Amino acid sequence: MHKPLLVANWKMNLGISASALLAKEIASHYKNNSSYDLWLAPSYTAIEATIKASASSGIKIGAQNVHWEKSGAFTGEISVAILQELGASFSLIGHSERRHIFYESDEMLAKRAECALNNNLTIIYCIGETLQERTENKTIQVLEQQLSPLINLIKKFTSKNIVIAYEPVWAIGTGKVATIEDIQIAHGFISKKVSDCTGEIVPRLLYGGSVTAENFQDIINLDVVDGALVGGASLSVEKFLPLMRICSV
Ligand code: 13P
Repeated sequence: MHKPLLVANWKMNLGISASALLAKEIASHYKNNSSYDLWLAPSYTAIEATIKASASSGIKIGAQNVHWEKSGAFTGEISVAILQELGASFSLIGHSERRHIFYESDEMLAKRAECALNNNLTIIYCIGETLQERTENKTIQVLEQQLSPLINLIKKFTSKNIVIAYEPVWAIGTGKVATIEDIQIAHGFISKKVSDCTGEIVPRLLYGGSVTAENFQDIINLDVVDGALVGGASLSVEKFLPLMRICSV
């Protein structure tokens, strides 16, 4: 069993002061709790302030994306070195909003992930099927395809700096959470596929998609779930604290 991990993805919400304020409140309730890990992913501009606001709490701060080149003409992108200079210790890669709104391909995501791992930046690699793919019974096929670049990277780097997040696209921000059976099947498939191909210990496996205080206990009770990647319910201390409490027991 892995140590549980709770990750807040603040997406394109909360400016510098609001991020710092929320991080400070969250940190005051976390206080180096050793029973679970807590990571926050604010906007790039709020990374530094969020780190300061949660200093000495043991909370890790990271980014929502990272580019694969060291530097250069990549308007709007950010490099591993710039993130590390800010103090970021991880980055999300392949979030469904990156895949579907910004058309990031598996190939592009593999490059992002490889560069991060090469430079010791931990990654949370996100995968998940759309509603149409699920309706057409293609969930496993899609997960297999999205996992394939990651499996090569686990073979190369081991799973030490890798976390996988299963986020069914139809469950993100919709209030429609996947059923316990859906999660069990998807996570079971991901774990088996990774361990069969790499012979490695499977990275921590998070569920994401409309996680709230109401559904999280049943989800985290599953053996195949190591934690959650949370959007909406991480944007206020009132909604996030109950999730922290569930992780801490
Ligand atoms: P919601 O929790 O708002 O559904 O978002 C999930 C997500 O996309 C986290 O990365």
